[in-house]
Amino acid sequence: MCGIIGYVGRNSVLDILLDGLKQLEYRGYDSSGVALKCGDKIEVYKAVGKLNNLRDKLEPHRKNLLDAKMGIGHIRWATHGAPTIVNAHPQTCNCGRLVVVHNGIIENYKELRAKLEKEGCVFKSQTDTETVAHLVAQIYEKTQNLTQAVALATKELEGAYALAIMHNNEPNTLVVTKRNAPLVIGVADDGYYAASDVPAFIKHSNKAIYMKDNEIATLTPDSLTIQDGNGNEVTPKIEQLPWEPVALSKMGYKHFMLKEIHEQPDVIRNILTGKLHTSDSPIVLEEVKLTKDILKNLSRIQIIACGTSLHAGMIGKYLIESLCQIPVDVEASSEYIYRDTVTDKNTLVIGVSQSGETADTLTAIRQAKAKGSHVLIITNRPDSAMAREADSLLSVNAGIEVSVAATKSYIAQLTSFYLLAIYLAEVKESANKEDLIKLKSEMLAIPQKIEQILSHKDDIQNCAKKYSGTRDFIYIARGINYPTALEGALKLKEISYINATGYPAGELKHGPIAMLDDTMPVLSVLMHGRVYEKILSNSEEAKARNARMIALTNSIDPKLDDLFEYIIRVPEVDDMLSPLIAIVPLQLIAYYIAEFLGKDVDQPRNLAKSVTVE
Ligand code: AGP
Repeated sequence: MCGIIGYVGRNSVLDILLDGLKQLEYRGYDSSGVALKCGDKIEVYKAVGKLNNLRDKLEPHRKNLLDAKMGIGHIRWATHGAPTIVNAHPQTCNCGRLVVVHNGIIENYKELRAKLEKEGCVFKSQTDTETVAHLVAQIYEKTQNLTQAVALATKELEGAYALAIMHNNEPNTLVVTKRNAPLVIGVADDGYYAASDVPAFIKHSNKAIYMKDNEIATLTPDSLTIQDGNGNEVTPKIEQLPWEPVALSKMGYKHFMLKEIHEQPDVIRNILTGKLHTSDSPIVLEEVKLTKDILKNLSRIQIIACGTSLHAGMIGKYLIESLCQIPVDVEASSEYIYRDTVTDKNTLVIGVSQSGETADTLTAIRQAKAKGSHVLIITNRPDSAMAREADSLLSVNAGIEVSVAATKSYIAQLTSFYLLAIYLAEVKESANKEDLIKLKSEMLAIPQKIEQILSHKDDIQNCAKKYSGTRDFIYIARGINYPTALEGALKLKEISYINATGYPAGELKHGPIAMLDDTMPVLSVLMHGRVYEKILSNSEEAKARNARMIALTNSIDPKLDDLFEYIIRVPEVDDMLSPLIAIVPLQLIAYYIAEFLGKDVDQPRNLAKSVTVE
C-alpha cells in the first residue's frame, strides 16, 4: 500500500525519485521521503502529507543534492503508526548509516523489535519497517556485505515486503528484495531502477525485470546481480514493457477520474475487438484455458474480489447464472480467506482485480489453487502477481487507471464478464441462439450509447449540484442493477465522503425506509425490463415518506415527472446490458458532487489504489 523507488546510475537521482514517487502516489499519499547518497553521507528528507510538501522541503537544498546519483524514495499509506515525520520512510538504523524503504507489513515486527531493543537498538518510530533497518545494520556490522546482510535478515522476517536498502559504507550499491509485494527493476543505459510499479520509471526505461519472491538484487551503476532465496545466482528475464508514458497524462481533463470515465466507450471497443466480431459469429476467448468438455460440465463457479471488482463479479454471477445455468457464488476475498471455503477441482474460481495486487484476493486465489481449482483472473494488469498465478488470464486492457476511484476498469471487468458468460453459453448451448445474437448485436452498440450519455453530462452535473449539500444518499435497484446501486454508492462515498448506501429496492421496507424524510435523496435505478414495475412501486413507497426522489431511467413515461424531482435519462438498452449504461451517470454524479465540494477527487483521503495489505 506504499510505493518504493530506488536508483543507482550515472544520472542525478533527485528528480528520478520525485517524479517516480509522483507516479506511485496512487499507492498512498499520507507522507513521503527520500534518502540520497551525497558525497560521504546519506541525506534523508521526509514530509507529512502530499508529495508536494516533500518537494517544497527539498527545494532549498536542491543545488547541493543534484550531484547524488544513488537514492531511494517512499510514498506512504500508514499501517503502523500515524502519518508523521518520524514514521515516514526512509527508516534508519541506530547510527543512521543504513536506510531502508519498505512496502508491506512485517508481521513479526513486535518480537523482532523486543529482541533488537534488548540488544541495544533504540527505536524512534512506531513502524514495523524500523526493525528491518536495525536488523540489517546489525548483521552488516558482522558481514560487511550488504547483500549478505539483507539475505540473512530477510530469513528472520515474516509477512510481506518490498525493500530497497542503502548503506553509507557502500557508495554505489543498492540492494532490493521482495516477498508477497510487487517489485520491478528497470534496466537502462544510465543505470538501474527499482520500484513498486513500472510507471515510476517508464519514462527512463521500458525494459523490466519482475522480481520473484525471496530474490535479492544487487544494483550498481554498471551491474545487476540477482540471487534466489538459496543464494544461487539467477539469470534475469528482461521483459519489454507495453505502456507509453502518455497514458499517465490528464489530456486536458481536470481530473484523471473524469478522463477515465470518458475513456470508457473506447475501453469497451478495445475489449470487443478480436473477441466479438459480428453478432452472428461466436465469441472468441482463447484466454480460457479449459477444454470445451470441461466447460460444458462445470458444476460451479466462485467469484472472489474486493470493492468495485466485487460489484463487477456480482453482475458476472447474474449473467452466468442466467445464460449458462451454472450456480455462481460471489464473495469478498477478505471473507473468503478466513472461513472453511468449499472448493475443489470441479470449481472454476474467478478472481477479479484491477490492480492484480490486492492482498486479500491474491491470498484467496492461492487458497483456491491449492485446493485444485482452475483459477481464471480478470485483471487490468497482465504484469501483476495475480496474473502470474492465473491458470487462465483475461486481461481487460483498460490502460493504466490513475484515479483511486475505479471507473474504466469496472466497465472493462463488466465487458469481460459479458464476453465470458456469452462464450460459456455458446459452448454449453445453454441459451437461445437468437437471444445471444441479439445480445451481441446490442453489445456492439453500447460504446455509442455511453458516448450519448457523456455528451449530456451537463444535465448530470446539474443534478450533482442540486444534491451536493446532502449528508446521506440512498441508491435503490433490483436484479442485475442491484450491484450498480452498490457501485454508485461506493463511488460517492469514496470521493465525496457522503454517507451513501445501495439497497435492493425490495429491502427498503424491511428497515431502511425508517430513515426516509424530506432530507434524504433516494436514487432509483429504473431501467426497462423484468423488475421495472417493482422498482417503480418501491420508489412510490419512498416518495410516500417524502424522500427526495431521483430517477436514472431509460423510460420516457411522463408519469415519472410526478414521482421524481430529478430525472436522468439514458438511452434504451436491453435489460441484461443495462449495467454498462446505468453506471456511467452514477460515476459522473459522484465525480461532480466531489468536485463541487472541492474534494481531492483523484486521491481521496485514507485510500490507496493498490491495497497490498490484508
Ligand atoms: C474502487 O473505486 C476502490 N478504490 C476499491 O474498492 C477497489 O475496487 C478495491 O480495493 C479492489 O481493488 P482491485 O480491483 O485492484 O483488486
